[in-house]
Amino acid sequence: MDFESKADSLLKLMTLEEKVGQMCLYTSDWDVTGPSINRGYEELIRAGRVGAIFNAYTTEYVRSLQKIAVEETRLGIPLLFGYDVIHGHRTIFPIPLGQSASWDTASIRKSEQIAAAEAMSQGINWVFTPMVDIARDPRWGRVSEGSGEDTWLGSIISATRVKGLQHREHDYPSLLACVKHFAAYGAAQAGRDYHTVDMSERSLREWYLPPYKSAIDAGVATLMTSFNEISGVPSTANQWLLTDLLRNEWKFKGFVVSDYTAIEEIIKHGVAKDLAEAGRLALKAGVDMDMQDEAYQHHLAGLVQKGDVNEADIDRSVKRILIAKYKLGLFDDPYLYCNPERERATLLTAEHRSFARKFVSQSCVLLKNENQTLPLPASIKSVALIGPLGDSKVDMLGNWSAAGRAEECVTLLEGLGNNLPESTSIKYVKGCEIDSEKNDNIDDAVRLAASSDYVILALGEGGYMSGEASSRSEIGLPGLQEELALAVLKTGKPVAVVLFNGRPLSIPKLDSLAPAILVTWFGGTEAGNGIADVLTGKYNPSGKLTMTFPLSVGQIPVFYNEKSTGRPIDPSQPDEKYKSKYLDIPNAPLYPFGYGLSYTTFEYSPIAINDTVFREGEVIIASVDIKNTGKHDGEEIVQLYVRDLIGDVTRPLKELKGFQKIMLTKGQATKVTFTLTLDELAYYHQDMHYGWDPGEFELFIGTSSDDTRKVTFTVR
Ligand code: GLC
Repeated sequence: MDFESKADSLLKLMTLEEKVGQMCLYTSDWDVTGPSINRGYEELIRAGRVGAIFNAYTTEYVRSLQKIAVEETRLGIPLLFGYDVIHGHRTIFPIPLGQSASWDTASIRKSEQIAAAEAMSQGINWVFTPMVDIARDPRWGRVSEGSGEDTWLGSIISATRVKGLQHREHDYPSLLACVKHFAAYGAAQAGRDYHTVDMSERSLREWYLPPYKSAIDAGVATLMTSFNEISGVPSTANQWLLTDLLRNEWKFKGFVVSDYTAIEEIIKHGVAKDLAEAGRLALKAGVDMDMQDEAYQHHLAGLVQKGDVNEADIDRSVKRILIAKYKLGLFDDPYLYCNPERERATLLTAEHRSFARKFVSQSCVLLKNENQTLPLPASIKSVALIGPLGDSKVDMLGNWSAAGRAEECVTLLEGLGNNLPESTSIKYVKGCEIDSEKNDNIDDAVRLAASSDYVILALGEGGYMSGEASSRSEIGLPGLQEELALAVLKTGKPVAVVLFNGRPLSIPKLDSLAPAILVTWFGGTEAGNGIADVLTGKYNPSGKLTMTFPLSVGQIPVFYNEKSTGRPIDPSQPDEKYKSKYLDIPNAPLYPFGYGLSYTTFEYSPIAINDTVFREGEVIIASVDIKNTGKHDGEEIVQLYVRDLIGDVTRPLKELKGFQKIMLTKGQATKVTFTLTLDELAYYHQDMHYGWDPGEFELFIGTSSDDTRKVTFTVR
């Protein structure tokens, strides 16, 4: 019997109360004594009125809760156990924004496979990831959880994460991934979390929806609604979004869960008068499971009895949830995920740590490196490590660090100690706090710098300064860190700045004075070792920004694929007044999308293209010869962009349409070839049809969105 028939048979045995129970998701707690469950929720589980629990793990604890559901309820329906495994479970990897800067889909997929294996080994069978929200505003703290500003790259990473999490080599155990937050949560007004989202359907479909669709096409099992409204309609009550688009147009078959109390928040949005109305609107829109706000638990049965809700709508939701449980094998063996031997053998293994270390290095982005300040010269005898991020374990975790443990993280100080020669002395002075005006010991830091061969400045944000409910109105270095940096730089010693950040930072002054800057995000468990491998030259940095670093917060939103406007600046007359520009700063950001240096250099030949005119069914083939012209072997992320010069609507100045990550030993050259079909030139027209047009196009290949070779071609 297939899963659907099994679900149908079980559904027939269920009371209305038991059906509604499957649609309810509650949190477990975790306190100093370990995991615990609210008494009320435990009683609800025992009454068969809970479908899933989240934030619960370890095989022992999960088994204890599963036992109640399976052995003490009338129908013995097993629970799902969900958790926010956003960038690793116990082995913590770089935050997703950092991972995306590696452009390394193989590593991204492997990190999700490891995360899934570790999570499942602790009883978890549902993870609230991937977060695929496109974001162009770094004031928003949750940019740390996503893959940056580009829709095309974000869509590829979205599918990669789903495949890493769900596509197992064997039948059991498997895992339910959950694409979130549907939809367009990253477009919050002013970068303020939970704020209003208002845009045309064209912008929604062109720039924000594709990564969710990509996850669905990759087979994602579940989807989570977003807190925000879209153009007046809260996502959790949005029937166009959750039914017309998600079910009827995209054919999504999994189940939809609301975000934490997002159903109740329909009241705060001013679209429901009370929790019953909010629950009715959410069910009608297409929300199958209610996370935490008890709207469904308290009101759905009553709404059915009053005739305000059809029981058939409840049956539809319950069936989706039951099918997911059958697919996981939970009805065959509810304790499938509760194997303590597997738990012990899977968590934080040497192999997981080793991969994490490599992934940290791959995620680092070298913004600046004057006078070959980096890698650290082998001859240095004394290194001064200065700054509040130099020896902080907890900040290495970033945010949403699941079962990660700060004490298991390697700090930069430890990483340098592990990887520099015994003979090199390493001294550390904090210099100041991360985010305090208290002048701690800048003078001591300056003294140490002056007496050392080389200085590493460990600066940036605290891990707590990004993630949910962590928007910042200014995105510079917090506290006294810039003062500390300027004082140290005045010593004239060779200085490398190592940034720890959950978002792009606006650091023009530091950038103008520091000879070298390495962005390291929050690298997780192996942060210090992975960064040290880059600083010592063991790993040649290859990362490229997936989100623009603004020159000033006043430029936001600033992103590479912007439109021309009717009055673009004419580069030959930059001072012309009546152009789309500012009086006080340039339009160009501090560092653009796709930017990142290497310790070596790469030379690009002009682009060779197979033709200049293309017709339906024909393929554009463009290639460049690239040579490693420097002194280090290194990887290069070669990027392909396109511009549609004349459209039915305005089109971006550039759109990423391809990339290839290549390794070239010093002196080695290779040809990199891209193919492009006409369908990849499609866009939403004024009448909202999606397709490509004949016309003139520009094609770019290069090392960054602002550093490319160009050719033109025509489509007839
Ligand atoms: C949070 C987040 C969401 C997370 C959920 C469960 O509020 O918005 O990303 O998955 O609640 O923790």
